[in-house]
Amino acid sequence: MTAAIPMLLDCDPGHDDAIAIVAAAHHAELLGITTVAGNAPLDRTTYNACVLRDLIGDPKLTVHAGAARPLVAEPRHADEIHGVSGLDGAELPAPDRGADSDDAVGFIIDTCRAREGIWLVAVGPCTNVALALRAAPDLGRRIAGISLMGGGTFGNRTAVAEFNIWADPHAGAVVFAHGGPLIQAPLDLTFQLQATPARIDAVRQTPGRLGTVLADLLTFFSGTYCSRYDAMQGAPVHDPCAVLALTHPGLFQSVRRHVTVETVGHDTAGMTVIDQRQLVERPAANTDVLIKLDADAVWKLITEAIAANA
Ligand code: BDR
Ligand code: CA
Repeated sequence: MTAAIPMLLDCDPGHDDAIAIVAAAHHAELLGITTVAGNAPLDRTTYNACVLRDLIGDPKLTVHAGAARPLVAEPRHADEIHGVSGLDGAELPAPDRGADSDDAVGFIIDTCRAREGIWLVAVGPCTNVALALRAAPDLGRRIAGISLMGGGTFGNRTAVAEFNIWADPHAGAVVFAHGGPLIQAPLDLTFQLQATPARIDAVRQTPGRLGTVLADLLTFFSGTYCSRYDAMQGAPVHDPCAVLALTHPGLFQSVRRHVTVETVGHDTAGMTVIDQRQLVERPAANTDVLIKLDADAVWKLITEAIAANA
């Protein structure tokens, strides 16, 4: 058996962040959770992470609150997708305890200095990761790399910008320019993993309370997507893709591309500019862009994780 991939999960729970937490807790060596303002304000994303820690029954897992606002942009949230709580749609028990610290950036730096070869997995706006990279110039050579959910060749907040990058484009630009291994799970990929009624049912069938809560959450999440898009069978379950592409790379296909983030464009701020040119003088690739996944096999990993964490 190969060793579990060590990772820190930076997130803004968020329905699909919740699935990412459960997937990481089971399929990876999850060393801690850091939270960022994104889908909801920071106090709420942190509260939600603490709720998830209890639901997966791992009191040793620490939660660290991070940036309450983007580097430059004004804070903007995603109530229309996740509800005002960030996790609307299920009865959630109050957490046993709150965050273990309010220094996510310090926690990321200390953890990566204490042990080399950790993956940073970012499934919310990249603010904490960008602050850590800036505060600790040695971090880039200590980590294994960064795997993030964000961007794509189309947008969900604007025609060209995906929420996580749009919410803090300057942080996204720092992360895409960091110079080390970088894996991008863009919307092009995550729209292939939809929470169809049959898949939500499979979650509900898993034994224990976690499956019921997550099925209720996914029902709400799919409801918002299906009511807002022309033809969806369910919500795209974006965030676990950034986790599972590391733990089960055989289920994903990727291409090497040069990717930058547009920070200033009137119509394009928050866009990831993925250079698809075949020109020989194109810039050197800096990103493994995930382009395809085996949705049924990935969903099976998700239900396995839920059953194991219940
Ligand atoms: C991303 O934005 C959030 O709404 C989701 O949690 C996901 O990380 C998708 O655009
Ligand atoms: Ca998220």
